[in-house]
Amino acid sequence: MIACRLSGKVALITGGASGIGESSARLFVQQGAKVVIADIQDDLGHSVCDSIRGTDHQNDVVSYVHCDVTKDSDVENAFDFAIAKLGKLDIVFSNAGFAGNTNPSILETEREHFKRVFDVNVYGAFLMAKHAARVMIPARRGSILFTSSSASVVHGDVTHAYTASKHAVVGLAKNLCVELGQYGIRVNCVSPFGVATPMLTRTMGMEKEEVEAAISAGANLKGAVLRAEDVAEAAVFLVSDEAKYVSGVNLVVDGGYSTTNTALKDRVVRSHKMPKSSSNGFSVKRD
Ligand SMILES: NC(=O)c1ccc[n+]([C@@H]2O[C@H](COP(=O)([O-])OP(=O)(O)OC[C@H]3O[C@@H](n4cnc5c(N)ncnc54)[C@H](O)[C@@H]3O)[C@@H](O)[C@H]2O)c1
Repeated sequence: MIACRLSGKVALITGGASGIGESSARLFVQQGAKVVIADIQDDLGHSVCDSIRGTDHQNDVVSYVHCDVTKDSDVENAFDFAIAKLGKLDIVFSNAGFAGNTNPSILETEREHFKRVFDVNVYGAFLMAKHAARVMIPARRGSILFTSSSASVVHGDVTHAYTASKHAVVGLAKNLCVELGQYGIRVNCVSPFGVATPMLTRTMGMEKEEVEAAISAGANLKGAVLRAEDVAEAAVFLVSDEAKYVSGVNLVVDGGYSTTNTALKDRVVRSHKMPKSSSNGFSVKRD
């Protein structure tokens, strides 16, 4: 591993009190960045900061600010807090998200539910982008990263609201990449497959280990379990100078899940009562 890939950089991470955001905050600091965590879970956010900071309470490598990404004044305040405390912002990681309920039915999707998912995932991302541009355009540099989802490239696994919102995040990122390129600002997305964070364990109503087992069973890549730390590694790459010419990318971290559709192969295997491991797609034959 290359040491200190984010040396000297300052980052603001929304949703940094938990899951992918928390892992990213830890890894960004390990890689030399100073991080401001912005979240609505204040106690958790402060305790994550304490655990990153260790015993040195004066250490300013990480700090916490309350920020509901759906509120304009909270987002403005989070940026002002970061600039006042650390003097600049090189990286904005708009990661906070809301899964909503699991009801797949369009007929049963309520307006309020749809709106809430869009408020957090899309309006929140828009506000983060707007304020990132406010501070990065004058500096003529910066990296903006959004957490979208594999739901931006695979359809039918999750709700209409969530899928549509994560598509919107990718669209926003790509549009921003075009406008902000002239100022030296890069804009990208990271799109994970299922990770057993509190969001997913809550949504699936299962313990972490059960969620990981269920996700792994449906995954394309075997022998590895996707964890928040793995998404953080992808995030570090995208915001680091190693990716200095990477912009407009939706980096899907899904072990190849989105490249395939096993439904037909599984059906053929089942109808021939053969073990899946002995199949080769359509070339399954009876002995
Ligand atoms: N876990 C997965 O399987 C998965 C897969 C693909 C994408 N994602 C995306 O990853 C991102 C992080 O989610 P996670 O899985 O780490 O879940 P998580 O629940 O562990 O973390 C989400 C964080 O966002 C914060 N948050 C929620 N609403 C907020 C708001 N209005 N303002 C500020 N903060 C808010 C929460 O308090 C929480 O700390 C989300 O955008 C999610 O949609 C997750």
